[in-house]
Amino acid sequence: MLDLLVIGDANPDVLVHGAPEVPPYGQAETLVGGGVLALGGSAAIAAHGAARLGLATAFAGLVGRDAAGDFVLDALSTAGVDVSCVVRHAALPTALTVCLNRPGGDRAILTAPGCLVEHGPEHVPDVADLAVRHVHAASYFLQPRLARALPALLRERRAVGATTSLDTNDDPAGLWELAPGLVAECTFLLPNEAEALALSGADDLAGALASLGGDGCVPVVKRGAMGAVAMRDGTAVHVDAPAAEPVDTVGAGDSFDAGFLAGWLDRGELRHALRLGAACGALSTRAAGGTAGQPTLPEALAQMA
Ligand SMILES: Nc1ncnc2c1ncn2[C@@H]1O[C@H](COP(=O)(O)OP(=O)(O)O)[C@@H](O)[C@H]1O
Ligand SMILES: [Mg+2]
Repeated sequence: MLDLLVIGDANPDVLVHGAPEVPPYGQAETLVGGGVLALGGSAAIAAHGAARLGLATAFAGLVGRDAAGDFVLDALSTAGVDVSCVVRHAALPTALTVCLNRPGGDRAILTAPGCLVEHGPEHVPDVADLAVRHVHAASYFLQPRLARALPALLRERRAVGATTSLDTNDDPAGLWELAPGLVAECTFLLPNEAEALALSGADDLAGALASLGGDGCVPVVKRGAMGAVAMRDGTAVHVDAPAAEPVDTVGAGDSFDAGFLAGWLDRGELRHALRLGAACGALSTRAAGGTAGQPTLPEALAQMA
């Protein structure tokens, strides 16, 4: 049995550092401080981080028959992620993201979703074909076909004893609507703070935790340099973020997800999972891109100590 199946998005990230606030048009060429090509997509970064931590991890996603798809599959399999169930779309391109990073951690994210709009339940391995301890889904709002099917997909996995989690990430349409019954099928919901507020419609973090925790799901809210907080049985559990001087924070949340799930699968203990998640999130910021700074388990445990 595998530890983890990650379902969701994978794309190359083109990360640009030191771009002007508004890049000039008029076919002007502007020199910037740096550029990096890295594995992107919340699901792919989380799968990569989980494999780096030693979890036996499979990735289920849809990429195109193009160089971007080759890049993504190569990056995942080099990290030890099982990509045998990734499907290649016959016509549509792999998704592609350009990130314009500001000093201080903020960024503009331009994503061409490509074949992600077609990613659906038929691309996810059947319960009978792939046994896993945990299923994690990411980038909910970029994959509308998958989104509609997700409650049933997660319910099936829970019926055979797996735990489940969802990191919705941002909703580019700003609607923030989850499929009916979805939250109740998530053992953990893993938004950042802005996403938690948007998903719940609450005015503050306490309200968001109370609202998202209403269906037996444990919300785990990521708060950047402020760490993370989870709500279980009406009690909030906080962890601080380890001190970091980020090179960039791309993928910190996804690397947190990987660490959180590794901690949870190891001990079934919420505080330990949060601390390992926070260590992995902080360490991921030490290098450009979502995956280059991701720690091994000994590195993450040393950061926690
Ligand atoms: N500047 C930082 N210093 C230390 N830890 C950080 C920093 N930014 C992120 N992290 C860690 O990574 C986690 C996820 O980052 P966050 O920015 O909250 O998520 P997302 O990338 O989904 O927006 C945080 O909960 C924290 O543990
Ligand atoms: Mg995120």
